Amino acid sequence: MSNSTPQTITITRPDDWHLHLRDGAMMASVLPHTARQFGRAIVMPNLKPPVTLTSHAVAYRERIIAALPDGMIFEPLMTLYLTDNTAPDEIRRAKDSGIVHGVKLYPAGATTNSDAGVSDLTKCYKTLEVMQEVGLPLLLHGEVTDAAIDLFDREAVFIDRVLMPLRAAMPELKIVFEHITTSEAASYVTQSAGPIAATITAHHLLYNRNEIFKGGIRPHYYCLPVLKREQHRLALMTAATSGNPRFFLGTDSAPHPKGLKEHACGCAGCYTALHAMELYTQAFDSVGALDKLEQFASFSGPDFYQLPRNADSITLRREEWTMPAELAVGESTVVPLNAGELLPWKLE
Ligand code: NCD
Ligand code: ZN
Repeated sequence: MSNSTPQTITITRPDDWHLHLRDGAMMASVLPHTARQFGRAIVMPNLKPPVTLTSHAVAYRERIIAALPDGMIFEPLMTLYLTDNTAPDEIRRAKDSGIVHGVKLYPAGATTNSDAGVSDLTKCYKTLEVMQEVGLPLLLHGEVTDAAIDLFDREAVFIDRVLMPLRAAMPELKIVFEHITTSEAASYVTQSAGPIAATITAHHLLYNRNEIFKGGIRPHYYCLPVLKREQHRLALMTAATSGNPRFFLGTDSAPHPKGLKEHACGCAGCYTALHAMELYTQAFDSVGALDKLEQFASFSGPDFYQLPRNADSITLRREEWTMPAELAVGESTVVPLNAGELLPWKLE
């Protein structure tokens, strides 16, 4: 065993800055998977019906905390779901609550449970101005929904059509460009002036779009924004391992029942909450950048959201283990990403 190959890595406890916990029995089953690794998570509001009001977020947060197994410490950071009708006053209520940490823009129809999302962002400018004033970040699902735009180009077109005009109108608005998937998004965030950051998932660091079609169609690798070409994966790896504090961890773990993924019109979303830190460690290790993992996973997120860094730590060991083929989740079954595969790192 050579000294240059570390066998364990210990880092400050990370946080997940983009997570789907769902609700009810499914939420209660997936929550411990996240809580064993992460201190906090930004919890997405795309429930049915969506979390559009501060009062909904307060109640959802209480349900999450009530579902946390005894002895587990985890802080859900709540978000509101922006609609054409979100009132500017609701933003002040959200900020004053102390429990809402961002407002999520889903362009209407862009992804799972986004039908109630925004039809035209310029309708929300009064509300966004209050967010800019009180310092509440806007979290972007950054894809246009124009059916004439190729699915693989929707993120790049979003930068030109939506993000650049928005940032010109509101340069001080804090923005998280969530789950970026392209070199265009990585360069835009790297080069922009002002308060903008981006999250990157483990699956977009590890895989390109070939993974969806290897040996047949593999629905568990289908998510939105969809996996892109290898050149984009490489750009995301460069951004994530650069040490640039504008890039940080967000799993976008998104559980769906097996039957709705393995379906003629399967849902978008990859389930990675069980093994997220193992996957990120594998990705950073693949380019010899384990020394940059802590900045990305544990420091840059809290610094951007102006929250304290976690005080405790986690350790990962180089040890092969097999991902279960299926997980019993609530009343259903979820097939995790990497089902049945060997993974090279294990959380202690
Ligand atoms: C997410 C979901 O299932 O809620 N799906 C996904 O593919 N990422 C929604 C989202 O974040 O786009
Ligand atoms: Zn998501």
